[in-house]
Amino acid sequence: MSDDIYREIILDHYRNPRNKGKMSNPDVSIHDSNPLCGDEIDMHLKVVGDKITDIKFEGRGCAISQASASMLTEMVAGKPLTSIKDLTKDDILENIGLTNLGPARIKCALLSLKVLKLGMVQYYANKDPASAKKLQDDSKGL
Ligand code: FES
Repeated sequence: MSDDIYREIILDHYRNPRNKGKMSNPDVSIHDSNPLCGDEIDMHLKVVGDKITDIKFEGRGCAISQASASMLTEMVAGKPLTSIKDLTKDDILENIGLTNLGPARIKCALLSLKVLKLGMVQYYANKDPASAKKLQDDSKGL
């Protein structure tokens, strides 16, 4: 697909975000922001067994950060928690389809993944400390 088509997809997710909103009684709820601009993302998840049965995000910020969050919720909804654990920066950049982003815009695109991984750290902290440590290390590079 051309960059124009990807730009349209990003704008569509920005204007019509999927899975955006509040959640009552989430199993995981985590907030973070991009220190460079202050843009924010909250992720809320319900987890049953090892499966993400519901996911919502809230946030404010640039089109890339908000569209990326919307797309990420679609990527992981209904998937096992391990699918979040293994998601990489390249998976996200490939998913949003813009390969020529500068370093500042890459931070925009990865903010929601960072939040999700931090959420998983929180979730695993009491259940599986080794996994929590790996997730924490992973999120530092984002
Ligand atoms: Fe703030 Fe993109 S400019 S996350």
